[in-house]
Amino acid sequence: MFKDSFKYYKSRNPPPDLKHVIDVRYVDATKVKRASTCHVTGPQDEILGLKPIKHWKLYRFFDIADLIIIQNPFTRNGQRYWITKCLRDYSRKPYVSNLDAQKLLNNNDTWWDVSFGNSERAVNFLPKLRWSTLGYHHNWETKRYTEETKTDVPFEICDLTQFLARTVGFENFKAEAAIINYYRMNSTLAGHTDHSELNIDAPLISLSFGQSAIFLIGGLTLADPANALLLRSGDILIMFGASRLRHHGVPKILQTFDVPWARDEWNDRYSPESDSEDWLKASRYISEARINLSVRQVLKTGQITV
Ligand code: OGA
Ligand code: MN
Repeated sequence: MFKDSFKYYKSRNPPPDLKHVIDVRYVDATKVKRASTCHVTGPQDEILGLKPIKHWKLYRFFDIADLIIIQNPFTRNGQRYWITKCLRDYSRKPYVSNLDAQKLLNNNDTWWDVSFGNSERAVNFLPKLRWSTLGYHHNWETKRYTEETKTDVPFEICDLTQFLARTVGFENFKAEAAIINYYRMNSTLAGHTDHSELNIDAPLISLSFGQSAIFLIGGLTLADPANALLLRSGDILIMFGASRLRHHGVPKILQTFDVPWARDEWNDRYSPESDSEDWLKASRYISEARINLSVRQVLKTGQITV
């Protein structure tokens, strides 16, 4: 049952045994199978911070229909670019964060400036960022998207997710809403289903950065058994079809010893953020945090408003 598994993996004392957690880096052929990408042309991969598609590894799961993991396809600099974007740019206006909802920011302040500034507030303020919403803003109380407070989805998120969707066979994906969750090492995300989108035929694309997580995914009811997956920085989860409405949550964040934003095994030319002052700030943050960027298509094709 989902709730029992969640409690098991969340427990600190005793800590959970991770032997049943599926880690695609150590393929268990009884649980996981390699999948291939669709043929996608165009120079996008390099621009988006991705390795060429021929080097990607995709996996599907025998027990979890319609779920794909793309094992970190980002280059080192791609990771740095997206992590910096999530922290510096997507946490501020015009996007809406929990800091706005809790009225924790003065007029012209941003989370980034306060947290990495010299004021006394900095240290305590940095962990306060929990979520941010882009595009159609998700109203956490009504669990609905609203037209009134809509912003654009940044073009680079649209380009990235459209490209990712095409590599797994979804030709017409359109990013219309994104939720970023910022996790500290002791954060969890309770089990839920993402059912607010009117278009549940479109995939949900979920990107993980920073520290690792145990991602628990069950079935359509809470009584169904759940599987635990290990998600690491750069991993991309695509939920569609029978998986689009499964219960899921994050019972635990795990410290990672494998830091793909630090290694440079890939010879990449794309480096707008790579060694900037901003990256130094972002890397400090990510050493004890996880970021999840989940991107959704809200509307059906041809539908104009929510
Ligand atoms: C979500 C979500 C999972 C994660 O934002 O809806 O399920 O991996 N995130 O953080
Ligand atoms: Mn979710």
